[in-house]
Amino acid sequence: MSLPPQSQPAALPKPMVFVLNGPNLNLLGTREPAIYGSDTLDDIAGRLEDRARDLGLEVDVRQSNHEGHLVDWLHEAQASEAAVVLLNAGAFTHTSIALYDAIKAIRTPVIEVHLSNPHTRETFRHRSYVGMAAKGTIAGFGADSYLLALEAAAKLAKV
Ligand code: DQA
Repeated sequence: MSLPPQSQPAALPKPMVFVLNGPNLNLLGTREPAIYGSDTLDDIAGRLEDRARDLGLEVDVRQSNHEGHLVDWLHEAQASEAAVVLLNAGAFTHTSIALYDAIKAIRTPVIEVHLSNPHTRETFRHRSYVGMAAKGTIAGFGADSYLLALEAAAKLAKV
């Protein structure tokens, strides 16, 4: 027996996970594939959307080459009550005190993500301002780093 529409319980909104990507990540697929793999950012977004559906999460995948956009999106994550942010800040990871401050300024937990393992690369990649403020870091697993971070996000969002 199906209930009349007005008696059916409203579906609860799914926890939202922002997936923010910084400079040059729009070139994934062709950018240094020996380091970053051959998946495009769209491929990764598709895999995240599929896994998010299974986990009962929503994902909003964005990319910008501009530091201020990433800062604005971190603020928006808190204002819109996103549950978690996955952040691959690209090279801004190693330079941006503005991103460090933005992560510190919001209550939304941020998980730092990298395709490569910066600690096995040039010394200028060993300092991470994002990592100093983030809840945790997942790096070195290629595109799977994002999927592993989504699993961690599901635990933080308690779904
Ligand atoms: C990166 C690592 C950074 O050092 C680099 O500047 C990037 C990509 C990664 O995902 O491995 O742009 O964040």
